[in-house]
Amino acid sequence: MKSSTNPASPTVPAQLSLDGRVIIVTGGARGIGLALSKACLEVGAVVAVTDIQDHPTPDFTLTGAKFPGRLYYYHCDLANEDELNHTFNQIYSDLNHVEGIITAAGICIDKPFIEHTWEDIRRQQSVNETATFFAVQHVTRKMKEQNKKGSIVMVCSQTSQHVSPGHELSGYAGTKGFIWSFARNIAHELSAYGIRVNTISPGYIATDMNLSIAAHRPNLLRIFREAPPLGRVGSPEDLKMAALYLLSDGSSYVTGQDLVVDGGMQVSSGNYKSQL
Ligand SMILES: NC(=O)c1ccc[n+]([C@@H]2O[C@H](COP(=O)([O-])OP(=O)(O)OC[C@H]3O[C@@H](n4cnc5c(N)ncnc54)[C@H](O)[C@@H]3O)[C@@H](O)[C@H]2O)c1
Repeated sequence: MKSSTNPASPTVPAQLSLDGRVIIVTGGARGIGLALSKACLEVGAVVAVTDIQDHPTPDFTLTGAKFPGRLYYYHCDLANEDELNHTFNQIYSDLNHVEGIITAAGICIDKPFIEHTWEDIRRQQSVNETATFFAVQHVTRKMKEQNKKGSIVMVCSQTSQHVSPGHELSGYAGTKGFIWSFARNIAHELSAYGIRVNTISPGYIATDMNLSIAAHRPNLLRIFREAPPLGRVGSPEDLKMAALYLLSDGSSYVTGQDLVVDGGMQVSSGNYKSQL
């Protein structure tokens, strides 16, 4: 073996391209899932969004018009086994193949640990853990059947690794800890089939999820701005390149990793003392 660069290696735009690939995005009607759907469309993918919203947002509809014939909406409660199975089978039947999935569907309950109910934990686990587990399992079976390489990207969270100052997320954080460990386990198991598995851990991102919590606790808005060393709250668009990198051939030698996009929170959250 000799050490050298390969003059025939693909260009960076070619490596980031998802031209013609079908990517499923769970929870893509709005927020992070929608931003990542747009990123996939911008580099040539066909995107199938599954979400529980009865109707996708106006932004989703505009995006569909901008990329005719490449953005599809499937209404589905992913926490319902029959609906998930039916919807994913319908996607394969409509679009024939699948090369990747981004799991962005999630719910978040912010309240003190001692006030959490069994129902709070059940609801979060059913969407954030169980639905993600079986969505990924469904796609993995299809990828194996196709005998093609594929990429799985799960949206995890900074809460899987450390507290998010200002929030009280004991139950939610546990579900993201599940994603962190689950991804590492299947990354090892699925490498034999050429299927890569990675996670993205966002910090504070301004979406309906966070902003609806801040609507009752406006002080959170200040924390979202002040706590990240980079001095601002994140936007869903801040995650686009991370998702493209992990989905595309640009990361063909990367599996079992977590890509943190948090404005520096991971290196500093312990230093931030909010004045609540
Ligand atoms: N916003 C943040 O600061 C932040 C930080 C870290 C991680 N995350 C994670 O990012 C992901 C996206 O969150 P977001 O901030 O865009 O929030 P969001 O609420 O805007 O988006 C979540 C989407 O999931 C969908 N969804 C919820 N339950 C569902 C179900 N049973 N079946 C199908 N779809 C369902 C919702 O309808 C919504 O469109 C979530 O997994 C969240 O935990 C968000």
